[in-house]
Amino acid sequence: MKPPYPPKQSIPAALSMPLLVLLLLCLFSSPANSDLASDRAALVALRSALHGRPLLWNLSASPCSWEGVKCALGRVIELRLPGMGLRGELPSGVFGNLTGLQTLSLRYNSLSGSLPPDLAGLFSLRNLYLQGNKFSGQLPDFLFSMQSLIRLNLAANEFDGVISPRFNSLSGLSALYLEQNNFTGSIPELSLRLDQLNMSFNHLSGVIPTPFSGMPESAFEGNSLCGKPLSPCNATAVTRDNKLSGRAIASIAVASSLMLLLVLAIVFLICCMRSAKKKHSHSKNIEAPKQPKFGIRAIGKTRDPSGFNSLVFIRKQQENLFDLEDLLKASAEVLGKGTFGTSYKASLGTGNAMAVKRLKDVSDSETEFVEKIREIGSMNHPNLVPLVAYYYSRDEKLLVYEYMPTGSLSALLHGDNGAGWTPLSWDTRCRIALRAAEAVAYIHSRGPEASHGNIKSSNVLLTKLYEPRVSDYGLARLAGPAISPSWFHGYRAPEVIDIRIVSQEADVYSFGVLILELVTGKAPSTSLLAEEGLDLPRWVSGAVEQDSAAEVFDAELLRYQNVEEDMIRMLQIGIDCTEQSPDQRPSMAEVTKRMESLSQFRSLQEQH
Ligand SMILES: *[C@@H]1O[C@H](CO)[C@@H](O)[C@H](O)[C@H]1NC(C)=O
Ligand SMILES: *[C@@H]1O[C@H](CO)[C@@H](O)[C@H](O)[C@H]1NC(C)=O
Ligand SMILES: *[C@@H]1O[C@H](CO)[C@@H](O)[C@H](O)[C@H]1NC(C)=O
Ligand SMILES: *[C@@H]1O[C@H](CO)[C@@H](O)[C@H](O)[C@H]1NC(C)=O
Ligand SMILES: *[C@@H]1O[C@H](CO)[C@@H](O)[C@H](O)[C@H]1NC(C)=O
Repeated sequence: MKPPYPPKQSIPAALSMPLLVLLLLCLFSSPANSDLASDRAALVALRSALHGRPLLWNLSASPCSWEGVKCALGRVIELRLPGMGLRGELPSGVFGNLTGLQTLSLRYNSLSGSLPPDLAGLFSLRNLYLQGNKFSGQLPDFLFSMQSLIRLNLAANEFDGVISPRFNSLSGLSALYLEQNNFTGSIPELSLRLDQLNMSFNHLSGVIPTPFSGMPESAFEGNSLCGKPLSPCNATAVTRDNKLSGRAIASIAVASSLMLLLVLAIVFLICCMRSAKKKHSHSKNIEAPKQPKFGIRAIGKTRDPSGFNSLVFIRKQQENLFDLEDLLKASAEVLGKGTFGTSYKASLGTGNAMAVKRLKDVSDSETEFVEKIREIGSMNHPNLVPLVAYYYSRDEKLLVYEYMPTGSLSALLHGDNGAGWTPLSWDTRCRIALRAAEAVAYIHSRGPEASHGNIKSSNVLLTKLYEPRVSDYGLARLAGPAISPSWFHGYRAPEVIDIRIVSQEADVYSFGVLILELVTGKAPSTSLLAEEGLDLPRWVSGAVEQDSAAEVFDAELLRYQNVEEDMIRMLQIGIDCTEQSPDQRPSMAEVTKRMESLSQFRSLQEQH
């Protein structure tokens, strides 16, 4: 039996990658392209290309003062022109200049035609609101390369064609609005973790894929769809004849009793699984898309024609436990798709499991790669996930880590609230924050250039005892230039434009977002599902300025007594870490010091 291999990269695609990289480099490295003057030129060009009510922008003042324009760190980051009576087609060659843009809102105008291809150059764009216009045609291919998108609203336009499965490549997407268009065909299987979805009032037909069965009915109404949450699809016309022969009745009786047996068996199985599951209620990882198991060999070409490549062990004591062949034979389960590649759990025959990360887009030569991996492998801290071994060949780069059974902090904080799920206690959150901060401070202590590069709650894994282990450190430096800086969305410091160069200050910002996440229980960037959501740091500091800080705390934490003061101090650390300006943020060493002074840890120290 053949396992379902993921498609291998075809040769043309592999060839076009370096080309794309070159192209991106040319686009983004020319200095003239990256300042406010070119943003300004682009805005002026946009204004003159659009018809309808004129935009009253004072051309002798800074563009940052113009209506609908918002700047940060000398770049235009938001352009919001909702309901401004704009007409005409969006011009080409304008948006390519607005590379700092994070939000573009042109909703409720009368814009028409197709979307200009240079929108694809907006590599920081998180929110694209184009609803309520007259855009038409099929969705352009470049849309699916806009990796930074979190919220995409194309509702109430005149788009047609099918809804492409390529939406799957927008891995960060959490809200997708396609209602009131002319889309046809069926809804593809999307493995996205969408918080909001609306496909109502199109010409869609067929079965609603099961991952969407929990969405509200109104997300699908006005189509010819069936299946949950709408009414069940008609079974194959068995029930057409009303008059049943005796034989039919007999066979129905037999079938029903078989059915009953089956149902009983299923109920029994479910009960067994429930009781087994209770013991592991925390090991759930919501980031793991439910996918069939397949052997790791299926994850790609793991042997060069030369046949000489094998695993290189960094932790020598594990060398006798398994080899490449064991790893390839192991049954593998997708743990999650990360910024730098997909992670698998490889269950070895011995009952042990390892986490295998299959890196994508590595452009380093073997020497460069090995050098960087040695640096990562030499890091040794009780709160870092240890790198055990690596594998390098031309086609495949694998990293083998210890497997963490309890999953990620992200899954524990934002996992489903179903039975068996217990919210993390305040004590546990404080301990996780402090230990993770110590791990990052350790990385920073290794030199001024050393940084983690990708701090987020899904990279903080937990042992069975809820001790945090920070993962993915140093991988940003291995990334090819093609990976868009959208990678960590709500965690990315505003000044970061190249993910391979993440400063310690930017790490501190990301860590601050993680602290805010622990205190508020909300996930960054997808936390506010209001139409024009803000980011977590901005939301928190806004609440604090309006004296409504009490409202930001996670409701789960309100039942703990006498922790208000610590909660406020923790919140303040998070706010200080997420200062816009890098030099105003504390160092990681200061962050750990301030956390240690929380009364919780003080009393611990007194006991010892
Ligand atoms: C883009 O920016 C460059 C450099 O500032 C400027 O010369 C050019 O006119 C801009 N293009 C548009 C369409 O605004
Ligand atoms: C336009 O901006 C300039 C410079 O800030 C200012 O002096 C002028 O009064 C403004 N004009 C209008 C009409 O607001
Ligand atoms: C949408 O589809 C309907 C029926 O297929 C058609 O009558 C209508 O003209 C289409 N609308 C647009 C704007 O293309
Ligand atoms: C989807 O869109 C329709 C039409 O705009 C609206 O009536 C409905 O409430 C929306 N449903 C959801 C779940 O957003
Ligand atoms: C199911 O069958 C009934 C009766 O034949 C029909 O009215 C209904 O439209 C069908 N529903 C679907 C979703 O095909």
